[in-house]
Amino acid sequence: MTTERGSDPGQPETSSLVILGASGDLTSRLLLPALGQLLTDQPKRRVQLLGAGVEPWTDDHWRSVVRTSFGAREAAGPAVETLLDATVYFAADVTDPQELTTILSACIGRPAVYFALPPMVSARTIAALKEIELPEGTVLALEKPFGSDHQSAAALNAQLTRLVPEDQIDRVDHFLGNSTVFNLVGLRFANRIFEPLWNSQHIERVDIVYDETLALEGRARYYDNAGALRDMIQSHLLLVMAVLAMEPPSRIGTGDIREAMGAVLRATRLWGDSAAVSSRRAVYDAGTVDGRPIPAYADEPGVNPARNTETLAEATFAIDSWRWAGVPFTLRSGKALGEKRREIVVRFKPAQHIPIGLTGAAEPAKLRIFLGPDAMSLELNINGPGDPLTIDRTEMTAEFGPGALLAYGEILAGILDGKPSLSVRGEAAVELWRIVTPILDSWDRDEVPLETYPAGSA
Ligand code: BG6
Repeated sequence: MTTERGSDPGQPETSSLVILGASGDLTSRLLLPALGQLLTDQPKRRVQLLGAGVEPWTDDHWRSVVRTSFGAREAAGPAVETLLDATVYFAADVTDPQELTTILSACIGRPAVYFALPPMVSARTIAALKEIELPEGTVLALEKPFGSDHQSAAALNAQLTRLVPEDQIDRVDHFLGNSTVFNLVGLRFANRIFEPLWNSQHIERVDIVYDETLALEGRARYYDNAGALRDMIQSHLLLVMAVLAMEPPSRIGTGDIREAMGAVLRATRLWGDSAAVSSRRAVYDAGTVDGRPIPAYADEPGVNPARNTETLAEATFAIDSWRWAGVPFTLRSGKALGEKRREIVVRFKPAQHIPIGLTGAAEPAKLRIFLGPDAMSLELNINGPGDPLTIDRTEMTAEFGPGALLAYGEILAGILDGKPSLSVRGEAAVELWRIVTPILDSWDRDEVPLETYPAGSA
């Protein structure tokens, strides 16, 4: 449809990006800066941008909002200018079929409709879209949370596939937009040294940690109903685990990766089938992060302490497959912690036999893959300096460098090109809920205590 980088320099086809919820925070904070960066990086791309939102903005006001967000990334060039000249805004009720028809009929290219909307509004908009005829090839892009449990995710899938085919539905996960995924694919499958060891015979355990120093940041309306398990483990970290654990795909850019990830998720269950044994939850108390005083989560505006929402969740999963039987995968994420720690740690098993006569603690080798900024380190045992009979620890490190695009830039490129190769497939979205349901149920029954930690602690 649209031209790709480096392809035919002739007249590129225009694609139309329709943002529903254009006056909201997601649009100005994440989508527009990423779009500006994408257009600067790919100046031949032609995108018609249509914003629709509840605010009674004029086209001029909208254009200034877009310009400001683009400015944050120093966006410039012909693709940016063309977009700015023609962008329009609809002050509209996006749950009204008539108004949606008006917006869609203003599209000059194949529309990609981005739902930057709260889930309740998205559901009503999807129902309204059923009433109208969608232009050929329309792509629908939905943000998390995709449903609120496996039944509602399955029902949402059924509704969406009545509108457009599955390959025109993009369930957005910005972690998959990250170049991190491709870094993992390259590291695992473009070297012969890791993949032969990538199994339960050689790997002891895997930890995926995403600790944030950010606290609630005024997001109580969403977060107090979500909590860390849904916000991070269900939505993001299980997908990172799926990339790490998947079987080798044959090709990039087809369904291979999504299929391989789906197989991992289908095989995943709670370790020991017991949330009491395999999960932990906690909430932050008042404290200090980076010198900033942080109130207790329960005292944050908009929080209802009776909901017992966790701001830190940890869960261990098993993957029932030949490759991974017996290897625990522990996923953890917390907010308002003392330090940002975002990494995958692959711990190998100990060497079968260390020659008698070598001394010193020989902790098994460890591969650490850091997420944003992407880097890796391989911790190994060597004889090192000094006494040649003593084992020392050494670390080989490498930085992957930033990707060409922001995560949301990669996502938008996929949506505009109709190639949502890394977005979450319908079936996987249901599996993600299936996997965490026993934990949510057990926490509802109060079988796992809600611990507390001071904001800023480790
Ligand atoms: C979002 C979560 O999806 O991901 C946030 O809703 C979280 O709570 C964020 O902070 C983390 O991703 P990133 O890329 O901002 O580090």
